[in-house]
Amino acid sequence: MFKRSLLIATAGITLAGIVGVSHAQDSTFKIGLILPMTGPFASTGMQLESAARLYVAQHGDTVAGKKVVLIVKDDTGMPDATKRLAQELLINDKVQVLAGFGLTPLAFATAPLATQSKTPMVVMAAATSAITEASPFIVRTSFTVPQVVTTLAEWATKNNVKKVVSLVTDYAPGVDSEKYFNQRFIANGGQVIETLRVPLRNPDFAPFLQRVRDAKPDALFAFVPAGVGSALMKQFAERGLDKAGIRLIAEGSVTDDNILNEMGDVAVGVVTAHHYSAAHDSALNKKFVADFAKANNGARPNFMAVGAYDGMRVIYEAAKVSKGVGGEVLLNAMKGQVFESPRGPMYIDARTRDVVHNVYVRRVEKIGGQLWNREIETVSDVKDIGKTR
Ligand code: PHB
Repeated sequence: MFKRSLLIATAGITLAGIVGVSHAQDSTFKIGLILPMTGPFASTGMQLESAARLYVAQHGDTVAGKKVVLIVKDDTGMPDATKRLAQELLINDKVQVLAGFGLTPLAFATAPLATQSKTPMVVMAAATSAITEASPFIVRTSFTVPQVVTTLAEWATKNNVKKVVSLVTDYAPGVDSEKYFNQRFIANGGQVIETLRVPLRNPDFAPFLQRVRDAKPDALFAFVPAGVGSALMKQFAERGLDKAGIRLIAEGSVTDDNILNEMGDVAVGVVTAHHYSAAHDSALNKKFVADFAKANNGARPNFMAVGAYDGMRVIYEAAKVSKGVGGEVLLNAMKGQVFESPRGPMYIDARTRDVVHNVYVRRVEKIGGQLWNREIETVSDVKDIGKTR
């Protein structure tokens, strides 16, 4: 106990001193992957870990002549745990990179440690706009909520949606979803008749959906994090919102590819915007989906998986350039990388360290007996519009 609090109390001083020195002589290249492997967001952890391991399996476990060591830690989705695990990975394991971060609060909790220790921190999942501003050592390979919801708002305006109710999970990416969707929709002449926020932990959608039904919008606009969409969809059908003629449009996490097939026919026709669909038509994506399924009992990769897969790509290529050295050299080699991802073309903006990629409007369709997010429109090279600078 004493050792732990001393570690935490002195972390600010020791991190700056210890980390970095031992990297150069080491024959390993260590990546500390912190993920929610248990608890309500375990599906996110499973997707991220499987995709990171797939990248290593496909590209080899040596980079710049060093053996790649992936150290996976379970933070159960709690920020205090993420921070403690990051400290341990930095001080005890001397990792060259911190990666993962399944939810926004987990990324924010760790950002100061990345700055103090000058360790690149690759955000593979969390999507609140402001995350990349929390540390100059953060590089993001997931997506940003403003990128996708503004694209959806444009689509809604053009497709006869005039009145919406918004319903979001009550934490940072939900607040971003509400703000950026509603702002753009209203600017385009639409009307937001009610804004609802549901709790992050153990949400009960029923009373909120009853209010949506009573408000009679043309559409419900929704955001819930990965893994939670099937509960929302079930309640949407049970409350008869579909029968009442209320359309569901959503941030793409709602029709998460990993759980889409569980949702049943109520999901058919739901329109979302996102940066990745497992149905994306490219040779690289087909191989990614097939290899992921093969390694994971037939499971389908979702957007979390692609964030981890691309994050590993960014780390590997940067490590080649830095010759396995960590710190700022490694960080700088991550900036500006341009490549083809299973999601389509993408790059890391060298100035913001944030991801730039296509955003797809997708409609859920039943194809060959399975539900897919079929891409119906593409907006190219979308940057985050939520940045304050
Ligand atoms: C986030 O916490 O930033 C987050 C998590 C899951 C999502 C989207 C955003 O599906």
